[in-house]
Amino acid sequence: MMQTIERAWNILATDWQRLQSQHLRDMFADNPDRFNQFSFTLDDLTIDFSKERIDADVLVHLLDLAKLANVEASRDAMFAGDYINTTENRAVMHMALRASPEDGFKVDGEATTDLVTPVLDAFLRFADDVRTGHVTNAKGAAFTDVINIGIGGSDLGPVMATRAMSKFASEGPNVHFVSNVDGAHLGDTTRGLDPETTLFLVASKSFTTQETMINAQAAKRWVTRSLGAQAAKAHFAAVSTNLEATSAFGIADDRVFGFWDWVGGRYSLTSSIGLSVAIAIGSENFRAFLDGFRDMDRHFKTAPLEKNLPVLLALVGIWRRNIMGCATVALIPYNQRLENFSSYLQQMDMESNGKRVTKSGQDVATKTGPVIWGDAGTNAQHSFFQLIHQGTDIVPIDFMITAQPTSYLVEQHDLLTANFLAQSHALAFGKTAQEVREEMMKAGGTPAAVEALVAHRTFPGNRPSTSILYSSLSPYSLGRLIALYEHKVFVQGVIWDVNSFDQWGVELGKDMANQLAPKLVDGADLSGLNSSTKGLIEKIRVLKSH
Ligand code: F6P
Repeated sequence: MMQTIERAWNILATDWQRLQSQHLRDMFADNPDRFNQFSFTLDDLTIDFSKERIDADVLVHLLDLAKLANVEASRDAMFAGDYINTTENRAVMHMALRASPEDGFKVDGEATTDLVTPVLDAFLRFADDVRTGHVTNAKGAAFTDVINIGIGGSDLGPVMATRAMSKFASEGPNVHFVSNVDGAHLGDTTRGLDPETTLFLVASKSFTTQETMINAQAAKRWVTRSLGAQAAKAHFAAVSTNLEATSAFGIADDRVFGFWDWVGGRYSLTSSIGLSVAIAIGSENFRAFLDGFRDMDRHFKTAPLEKNLPVLLALVGIWRRNIMGCATVALIPYNQRLENFSSYLQQMDMESNGKRVTKSGQDVATKTGPVIWGDAGTNAQHSFFQLIHQGTDIVPIDFMITAQPTSYLVEQHDLLTANFLAQSHALAFGKTAQEVREEMMKAGGTPAAVEALVAHRTFPGNRPSTSILYSSLSPYSLGRLIALYEHKVFVQGVIWDVNSFDQWGVELGKDMANQLAPKLVDGADLSGLNSSTKGLIEKIRVLKSH
């Protein structure tokens, strides 16, 4: 019978009917080779899917789905520089930002390395010069603090990566980030800093984003007030594709580092948007960071689907989302320095695949992107893990752990690792009522006391998780991990047939905010507003005046 994509979905649904009643506890007992069968590696990186509620047939059928959804052809089209971002009429080529000339990437017939290399060299030189004090203020003094002003893709990646690689930051200035239009963000960040030794990077692909522009203007006033307009120039650099707007803002052209429309905001960390990261860790570490991305790009581009880590991660995600019906995914790195990883992935994943129409504008037939959230373990264990263990919703988890410690308190790493292992075990295997009874009786409980608590102390288990293990958190491994997720998001977008590279859904709120801002002024006409917005504005006006 001819395979169609509908049939592939139906086969997976039938697989779930078979597996739904099976417990991971039994699946492990029946198959001693389960770990080997469902773990996949690339150098020191291992992804273990054995605690997912899948079997060998499911994997085969998921791979069939990927083939029928044209994942390979779509991937090749992206790498070929085709205009796959159809609603914005653009290529999608963030991989070119970390490629070598031999990768041969082209957009519109032009070799991308010819574009990328000079900009990369220039912004890394600038980063090193800021670190070493060769780029100075008007008086020739080195900068002690750098503040990146940006939001979304011009903030989340740099925030996450700077924190993640803090071990590699030494001797340079302190790097801070301001994103929120709430003036408290800029105010709290500049408090205690000296304008004379503070450098601002205004990071905005469009250089029109409301929050970034208003914060940048406020920063300019802060510097100008103490140093004068002429000296203030030395305190600003920009990262943007909009040279006209950076010049109008008053930033010298040789302080502006560009990128291209084929780099989406949430995929821009390896462009000059990474300038703040490069200032924190230096050019050598930044280049190692790019190497990690590049190796994962090449793996994704060339590995057969059945060994392709981003493809497999995406397919297991499809299984969780579309077949098991899980609405969310928690990302739990057992690594404090990855505490911002889930916020970064939120934008990458949810802005990409939070879509309700297909590429051709029809309503999608399946559920698309899940809600992405999370926090670092072990902290997460003491906040939301209760619900994940015993709540009524199934929340699949992606765990991340390094074999090697990240801090000099090396003895604490074994305990961290033990906690990760314990959580993934407890979620999968749970604890039966019988085990609870035996344990409580052994501890001397009376039968009545034991029975009163059995239900409360029972863990259902059978809750899926994927474990991502690698040797250590380094610029290289971080780059590889991010690219793994970038390509996972891409594959899922292909299977859902959505455009993962536009973000029209953020526009309405932006437009509304612009229309509503003048209404907050006393006396402004509120007619035509809905009664809730009108009522709230009236209350705000009253409360403001108190
Ligand atoms: O939130 C919408 C968005 O357009 C994101 O896609 C982007 O990362 C962010 O705003 C910031 O945009 P820009 O870099 O142009 O300031």
